Amino acid sequence: MNDSSRQTKFLRNYAPPAYLIEEVALDVHLAPKNARIASKLRMRPNPKMAPGQPLVLDGEDLALERVALDGKDLSPGDYALSDGSLTINSVPAQPFTLEIVTLCDPEANTELSGLYRSRGTYCTQCEPEGFRRITYFIDRPDALAVYTVRIEADRATTPVLLSNGNLIEQGDVAGTDRHFAVWHDPFPKPSYLFALVGGDLASVHDSFTTASGRKVALGIYVKPGKEDRCGWAMESLKRAMRWDEERFGLEYDLDVFNIVAVSDFNMGAMENKGLNIFNDKLVLARPDTASDADYHSIESVIAHEYFHNWTGDRVTCRDWFQLCLKEGLTVFRDQEFTSDVRTGPVERIIDARMLKTHQYPEDAGPLAHPVRPASYIEINNFYTSTVYEKGAEVCRMLQTLLGARPFRKGLDLYFERHDGEAATVENFVDAMADVSGRDLTQFMLWYTQSGTPELACSLDYDPHAKTAKLHVSQVVPPTPGQTSKEPMLIPLKVGLIGANGDELPLKLNGEILTDGLLEVTDREQVFEFHDVPAPPTPSLLRDFSAPVRLTTSLDANQIEFLMMHDSDPFNRWQATQTYAGNLLTAAAREGDVGRATGKEAVRLAQALATAARDDTLRPAYRAETLKLPSESDIARELARNVDTDAVHAAREALRAKIGGSIGDTLAALYDTAGTDAPFSPDPQSAGLRALRLAALDLLAATKAPGGARRAHYREASNMTDAIMALSILSQLQSPVRDDALAHFYARWEDEPLVLDKWFAVQARATRPDSVETVRALLTHPKFSLKNPNRVRALIGSFAQANPSGFNRADGAGYALLAGQALEIDRFNPHVAARLLGAFESWRTLEPGRQRHAKAALEDLAGQSLSTDSYEIVTKTLG
Ligand code: ARG
Ligand code: ZN
Repeated sequence: MNDSSRQTKFLRNYAPPAYLIEEVALDVHLAPKNARIASKLRMRPNPKMAPGQPLVLDGEDLALERVALDGKDLSPGDYALSDGSLTINSVPAQPFTLEIVTLCDPEANTELSGLYRSRGTYCTQCEPEGFRRITYFIDRPDALAVYTVRIEADRATTPVLLSNGNLIEQGDVAGTDRHFAVWHDPFPKPSYLFALVGGDLASVHDSFTTASGRKVALGIYVKPGKEDRCGWAMESLKRAMRWDEERFGLEYDLDVFNIVAVSDFNMGAMENKGLNIFNDKLVLARPDTASDADYHSIESVIAHEYFHNWTGDRVTCRDWFQLCLKEGLTVFRDQEFTSDVRTGPVERIIDARMLKTHQYPEDAGPLAHPVRPASYIEINNFYTSTVYEKGAEVCRMLQTLLGARPFRKGLDLYFERHDGEAATVENFVDAMADVSGRDLTQFMLWYTQSGTPELACSLDYDPHAKTAKLHVSQVVPPTPGQTSKEPMLIPLKVGLIGANGDELPLKLNGEILTDGLLEVTDREQVFEFHDVPAPPTPSLLRDFSAPVRLTTSLDANQIEFLMMHDSDPFNRWQATQTYAGNLLTAAAREGDVGRATGKEAVRLAQALATAARDDTLRPAYRAETLKLPSESDIARELARNVDTDAVHAAREALRAKIGGSIGDTLAALYDTAGTDAPFSPDPQSAGLRALRLAALDLLAATKAPGGARRAHYREASNMTDAIMALSILSQLQSPVRDDALAHFYARWEDEPLVLDKWFAVQARATRPDSVETVRALLTHPKFSLKNPNRVRALIGSFAQANPSGFNRADGAGYALLAGQALEIDRFNPHVAARLLGAFESWRTLEPGRQRHAKAALEDLAGQSLSTDSYEIVTKTLG
């Protein structure tokens, strides 16, 4: 790493590239240790920029063999090579051809960025800045070019050769053991969307005919032997393709769409044009190996990457500050898809919960940044839940404010204006403003202001005037680099509920508000509803209409009323969460579990039983209702002086109380709900399993006979039930636990994705010795720091999903994470920096834990770190 890579880059310094690349011809000779890449670039000076500038190309870890300008070799005096670039001082003012030959080492590429080898398969990951590790290039998203790629490799070991676009030629290299394939992608694209794969892969094929009649060949490429695990991904892909046509009028545009699954991948998946590359975890599924959660994430990520074809590939980003332009919008689109193919309200709950669990702490901590960051040191650190999930909420708010049809028109206009271009957030919002005639200036604050807005609401009822006044105030808390904030435009969906549970008409300023949508724009605002016959209960922030923290003046009785009567499914669920959350935070704050087990807990239990038995509600929804706020939810609500042991104790006590109070209802649900049908991953069947397992989770907490013992691991007939049983048993100190884990291991030791679950279950188990358990597993023969999935399964699960283990009072959890991250940082900075994100909430802890966390971070700061980890550690320390 060089010093310049640690410099802060600013959005305000954006300037277009001095040179444009029109065409790229790559000739790639694959070889394990020295892949040779010959690149031929048709270039010209950017007419919009000052002429005569030096040509600076990005490059990293490359061995340069040749540079030639318009056919003539350059000598070392004609150019300058530095750590990160190749500079040619003088190039023609007219279009010219640049030829570059470099070598790189795919086997030694442990960063998994650029061209690397995953268990014998050559593959690439170029977003955001990996292409420069393949060849010298203008490696930035606003440099769009048309690519033709010839790949040559050993025929026997590397029979499959893939790249973006359409296959135009293939054959043997005469007189050798080698063969080649030529791919051409007619759509101009930035280098981060380039991809190439070479390997001994099996494939599954299908086809899709688009609305306008184009027949698209679909292929999924996997390691031989895994062909029987591609069905769900293929079905999901076809569903997504159809849905994007129906919902957004967007069709696929090439003759081929390929997906490749690889076992070593830094993230989830990548939307390379026509050649998506996936972490195999998000492709492979078979009833015995994959859980319902796996099927759910495969469906949504396959859709996500496919949807990028328009939001990302056809219209890409001008610079990396605009990352949310493609990611937030594409997450919004995949959420809408999943809502349509599954149960909408349940998906909304899952998405809101995810946002609150991951994004709210980010927004409240030292790494807070706007949805569109204004600066960064390492862009890899900005693939965050703020950019993705809050970015999606921002798109959703636009749809809520404008209405679904105008929003769709706005998207149409955005594509009409910017197809084939690299765009900005302003371009997107301008299209929305233009179709709706609205001024969205204030709305832009959602992109530029960080921090979660705090919205306080209270309702005053006047029995004489028959009015109900809703007082709303908003504060956006200070965040790093942003001390004072402007008030935001917040869509606030509300309802008023009468004493008998009826929705009351909302009369505001002489009109009836049919959609219940209020627009909050000021720091303080009052909305006065008329003709309200009796004191109503307000239902606020329906459907989670904005990513804000809501505080209300509702008392426990009113919240209980909403648990029973709110017609908005999201808010009915939220009321349960709020009710439970209030008990849990009081108990954790005071270190008194009695606060969570009194008569209010019994009332909560009764309400849960009523909902759980209610056949008019979908099982998946009932399952969500039975899930108590998580330990991280409680810690987030406490916000300061958090003692993770007290949080755990409070939650366990409430679970046990509920399990004990409504044990019969729970047992009945567990014993009956849809057990005998053969496994099917469809949402209805998954919902029934979720309901049973949510019941089991509460039953297991009672520690009574029939509690944990109900977790019949050996009888589980599918992976969802097996993992649930294993999770429950793994909390115990008992031979039952050891037997179950040993049995699972023996059955699955040769199935990496399933074995990841075995590591993860143990890393998550809340036990006094969880740090020691994880340490022991680090030396397990099947553990490897080099495989990102395995690292995330063991170390990531421990740091992110075992709050009391990771935050052990003596600091042992912090030391474990810091030590492992440091080791990983030496060869894979992206993965290391991600793990270190687990420290982001350290300032919310009680003083003793804070001291230990700070010591671990300071120790890291004193080490030689990658740019990625350096940025996370220094910013986290603040
Ligand atoms: N664009 C990919 C997606 O669909 C993620 C790429 C993330 N890259 C990274 N280096 N973190 O979400
Ligand atoms: Zn994405």
